[in-house]
Amino acid sequence: MSADPAAEAARRRTFAIISHPDAGKTTLTESLLLAGGAIHLAGAVAARGAARRTRSDWMKIERERGISVSSSVMMFEHGGEVFNLLDTPGHEDFSEDTYRTLTAADSAIMVLDAAKGIEPQTLKLFEVCRLRDIPITTFINKMDREAQDPFALLDEIHSKLAMDTAPMYWPAASGQRFAGMLDLTRDEFVPFKRLEAGEDGFASQERQKRGGANFLEGVRDDVRAELEETAELAREGLPKFDLKAFREGHLTPVYFGSALRRFGIPELLAGLGAHAPSPRPLPATSKGQEREIDPAFGEVTGFIFKIQANMDPKHRDRVGFFRVSSGRFQRGMTLKTAAGKAINVHNPLMFMAQEREIADEAFPGDVIGIPNHGGLRVGDSLSQSGDVSFRGIPNFAPEILKRVRVRDPLKQKHLRRALESLGEEGVTQVFKPVTGGDLVVGAVGQLQFEVLDERMKAEYGLEVIFEPSPYQAARWVSAETRADLEAFTDKSKSQMAADVDEAPVFLGKSAWEIGYVQEKIRRYAFPPPRSARFKRLPAKALLKPLRRICAL
Ligand code: G4P
Repeated sequence: MSADPAAEAARRRTFAIISHPDAGKTTLTESLLLAGGAIHLAGAVAARGAARRTRSDWMKIERERGISVSSSVMMFEHGGEVFNLLDTPGHEDFSEDTYRTLTAADSAIMVLDAAKGIEPQTLKLFEVCRLRDIPITTFINKMDREAQDPFALLDEIHSKLAMDTAPMYWPAASGQRFAGMLDLTRDEFVPFKRLEAGEDGFASQERQKRGGANFLEGVRDDVRAELEETAELAREGLPKFDLKAFREGHLTPVYFGSALRRFGIPELLAGLGAHAPSPRPLPATSKGQEREIDPAFGEVTGFIFKIQANMDPKHRDRVGFFRVSSGRFQRGMTLKTAAGKAINVHNPLMFMAQEREIADEAFPGDVIGIPNHGGLRVGDSLSQSGDVSFRGIPNFAPEILKRVRVRDPLKQKHLRRALESLGEEGVTQVFKPVTGGDLVVGAVGQLQFEVLDERMKAEYGLEVIFEPSPYQAARWVSAETRADLEAFTDKSKSQMAADVDEAPVFLGKSAWEIGYVQEKIRRYAFPPPRSARFKRLPAKALLKPLRRICAL
């Protein structure tokens, strides 16, 4: 392995999979890991999930609802490339977490169910990718079941996502008649072999070259005729793959297959290896100057895009997921936040498909876990000099606010500590009203309260009660001068609270009230406390971006 960050970065493919629940993200993850040689047994992802579940009861929610709530990172090396797969939660209440994970990805695979096409959550997640200009590769899954007409599917992508579609392969029928797919670039047929339940390996057999004796061997006449006709139409009528258009997000290469039957997966992986982008330069501020940090920048830099508390419930640990943006990270290095806090990274974690290992080194595009005791926050930039600050990870204003009490009044102190520590993950936020009274918890979606409830029980032994609060919105407050801030805080005392960092927050009773305050007090602004370092999302963001009461 070379130690040159630029050369190592060039072979990194850091990507996420986005899909509507049930389209097959989990199954595809597993199949990709198998194809990449990272795991050897089907069921390994599920087994890993089961092991995790036994450790942590809150995962019950996942099991009951069949959704994946937590995100993780899986790294594997294949065909000369190093793939970092960032897992994103599928449920819409977790879109904030997903959004942050996508800030750490250089591209995404969009999985569609071949019978359903674009579903609501696909669309939302797609919008998030578009906000970040992340190139998208499409995988049309479940071809082993009755599928929609491939032209209709591509047309739907084109019209709903305003993106050109370039099929890389073309399917030969679907469902019971599914026979394989034609490689449109090389004009070779990849036959489909239906795997028996529990059978190992991949469902593709040797490729058949056009003109060879075995071309389309064993394919029914009607399927063969249909394939030849439709593939020709696709070749003539649909856009050809264009690397530049893909990288700019105007075109998506489309692959077909079955994650469950493990068909079309090596082809998808090869496509990612060949076309998906390696880490690109990121906008940042360094030494007071706006500049782009590319992988060859002279020091190790990166940012924390996720915090996971209590990965090991026995130790109240927190792991900050650090995406390396430049330089060669080595174990034992000291990294500094832009605020000057130094962190010695003695035991960085690397997330392999099935286990966590200590990382001796990491390169741009890689994600390492930095164990810490609460010193890191989502959005923190880290660098050797402490002089680099990345832009782009937003803090979201909570949409649902509830009062929280603990059943056992003696555990009031524990409650605050537990809420704060889970709050550091950035998924929920906890506010302490300045006039006293129950703590207020804010989240972007209802499901987060259920997860919080489960985790408080499982990880802290606390029975909590959530009650409605009179508040519907929270906004961080800042002002140009301390005196201005104090004047405002004093006036609005009954609705002021402090967040985990003791930053002042205004709790509004309605959107109308927030608007009213905004109009009334032009001098005050309400961004999150770290807003200076975060870019504001464009207005079309679907994820309820942070909002200011008025411009600074
Ligand atoms: P998700 O993470 O996107 O929510 O989807 P997941 O992989 O869990 O897949 C959802 C369901 O779709 C699963 O069935 C899975 O087996 C099935 N599936 C995924 N890919 C394919 C495919 O290529 N072909 C077919 N026929 N089915 C596929 P389930 O019955 O909900 O769960 P399970 O009991 O099979 O685990």
